[in-house]
Amino acid sequence: MKRIAVFTSGGDAPGMNACIRAVVRGAVYHGIEVFGIRKGYNGMIAGDIFQMSSHSVSNIVQRGGTILKSARSKEFMTAEGRQKAYDQLQAHGIEGLVAIGGNGTFTGAMIFNNEYGVPTVGAPGTIDNDLYGTDYTIGFDTAVNTALDAVDRIRDTASSHDRIFFIEVMGRDSGYIAIQSGIAGGAELVMVPEVLTPLSEVVETLKQGWSRSKSSSIIVVAEGEEEGNATEIAERIKAQVDGDVDIRVTTLGHTQRGGAPTAYDRILASRLGLGALEGLIAGQKNVMAGIINNELVYTPFEDTIRLPKPINEDLLRMVKILSI
Ligand code: F6P
Repeated sequence: MKRIAVFTSGGDAPGMNACIRAVVRGAVYHGIEVFGIRKGYNGMIAGDIFQMSSHSVSNIVQRGGTILKSARSKEFMTAEGRQKAYDQLQAHGIEGLVAIGGNGTFTGAMIFNNEYGVPTVGAPGTIDNDLYGTDYTIGFDTAVNTALDAVDRIRDTASSHDRIFFIEVMGRDSGYIAIQSGIAGGAELVMVPEVLTPLSEVVETLKQGWSRSKSSSIIVVAEGEEEGNATEIAERIKAQVDGDVDIRVTTLGHTQRGGAPTAYDRILASRLGLGALEGLIAGQKNVMAGIINNELVYTPFEDTIRLPKPINEDLLRMVKILSI
C-alpha cells in the first residue's frame, strides 16, 4: 500500500486530532503517502482531499474538535454519492482509508467496501462510548469529565437553594456518560435508555432523601432516556410530588463535545490511530481497531454496528446504594 487517506466523520469527539496525528505520523514513519479528507464522506464526494505531512499535524494533540472537520453525509447514503466518492479516491490514487467515527461512519465504510473494495480500518471516535469492540471510545473520557465538572458546579447551587436538579447529558442511545458522571458526581439517581426507570422510582428516591433530611438532589438523565427528556421528566415529577419542591433542569448539550482531550483520551486516540493504520498496512479491512483489556484488537464493522454494548447494571445498583 503506497497511499492512504484519513478522515473524521459523524459527531466530533475530543481526541480525534490526536488520532489523526497518529495516523499521519505513523504513515510517514512507514514510508506511506498520507492524504487528509475534509468533512468526512461529503469531502470524499467533493474531492476535498489534500496531502498531509508530519508537519500538518504539529501542535494538535492537545486540541479538541477535528482539524479535518466532520459531517454526517446524506449523499454518501446514496449509490450515486458513493460512486462519486470512489471516483475521487481513484483520481487521487488512494488505496486504503482510515475512518475515525462511530456507528454511522462504519456503516458507510462497510457498504462502500462491499461495493468498491476500498479497504478501510476504523478508529472509534464518539463521546457516546456505544461501540462494541472496544472498552472505550475516543472522546468519552473527556465528555465524562466535562459533564462531571458541570454536575459538581450544579451541586453547589442546588445545595445553597435546597433544589432538585435534573441534569441531561449526551448519549443518543447510550447511558455511559450518564452513569459515569452520575457516579463520580454523587448523583441520587441516574436514568439511562438501556434500563427503564419508572417515574414512581424517581419520586420514591426523592421522598426517601427527604425522610433522611436531604435538602437537595441531583438526577442525571441520559438524553436517550425512554421516559422523555429531562425537562419532560422534571415536569411530570413536579406534578407527582406534593408540596413546595423547587426543581430546575440543566441540559449540558454540546459543551460535552468540545474542549481539550484528557490525557486518557490522547493516549487512547494515539494507540487507536496507529493501530488502525498498522492494521490497514497489514491487510486488515472492514474492521475497527479497539482496545479491550489493554490489548489492541480488530472487530468486523458488522459486529461493531450490530452487537450491543451493554452497560454494567451493577453500576446503577451502586448509585442507589451510595445515595442513601
Ligand atoms: O453521537 C454523539 C452525539 O453527541 C450524541 O450524544 C448526540 O445525540 C448527537 O451526537 C448529537 O448530534 P448533533 O451534533 O448532530 O446534534
